[in-house]
Amino acid sequence: MQPRAEPPLIRLRGVRVSYGSRPVLEGLELEVGKNERLLVTGPSGAGKTTLIRLLCGALRAERGEVEIDGVRLDGAREGDLRRLRRRLGIVFQDPRLIAGFTLRENLALALEAAGERPERMAPKIERVLARVGLAGRGDAYPPALSGGEQQRAALARALVRDPRVLLADEPTGNLDAAAAAAVTALLEDAWIRGATLVIATHDPALAARLGGRLVRLERGAFVAPGRS
Ligand SMILES: Nc1ncnc2c1ncn2[C@@H]1O[C@H](COP(=O)(O)OP(=O)(O)OP(=O)(O)O)[C@@H](O)[C@H]1O
Ligand SMILES: [Mg+2]
Repeated sequence: MQPRAEPPLIRLRGVRVSYGSRPVLEGLELEVGKNERLLVTGPSGAGKTTLIRLLCGALRAERGEVEIDGVRLDGAREGDLRRLRRRLGIVFQDPRLIAGFTLRENLALALEAAGERPERMAPKIERVLARVGLAGRGDAYPPALSGGEQQRAALARALVRDPRVLLADEPTGNLDAAAAAAVTALLEDAWIRGATLVIATHDPALAARLGGRLVRLERGAFVAPGRS
């Protein structure tokens, strides 16, 4: 007997998302397998950020189905949604670190939200800070870091939870080439450790380095998919 194919980790069927009465995603179909790297490109306004927001549960589909890791986002019980969110790591284009908290405190908050036990936090935080090249900077406040350092800290905040799915919206958007390469290497590292990546990006260098499946959104739907 053939082994049964694993179900996709993320599945979208006939999804519509609107802002007000204007549909921004329409009839969207997508399947992302476990440990896949999916890169979503497309012109400004195509709906990439909207897709990321949908996948992290910040927006709801008006029509269609969204399923992640066996949990239907529409109609899921609050407890299931909370457990799912704990398995997601999210990196926004702007780092969104809390300015009045040190890096260590920012990461601790992310772990606390994921239900981590306090005594297990410190070693995880130190390990992830080292991984993103910010060892020794745990006591720094975000405004005292450069843009590239802040973006790496934002990545550390997503990675500290060892996410099953890492969602990132233009993670190299505001960075120079060297900082962008560092962030790209960290995304690759997360993929090697087993995470499934969904990354919205305009950055051809990121797409070339990371490999994986490239899809293009145009006016709210995917066109001409390809594999790099
Ligand atoms: N909060 C909002 N309210 C109303 N319209 C919105 C909102 N957010 C986005 N839109 C509109 O939805 C469309 C898709 O926006 P989205 O941010 O998803 O595009 P994008 O592909 O991420 O673009 P970019 O490459 O510029 O980041 C755009 O036309 C945008 O103006
Ligand atoms: Mg966007």
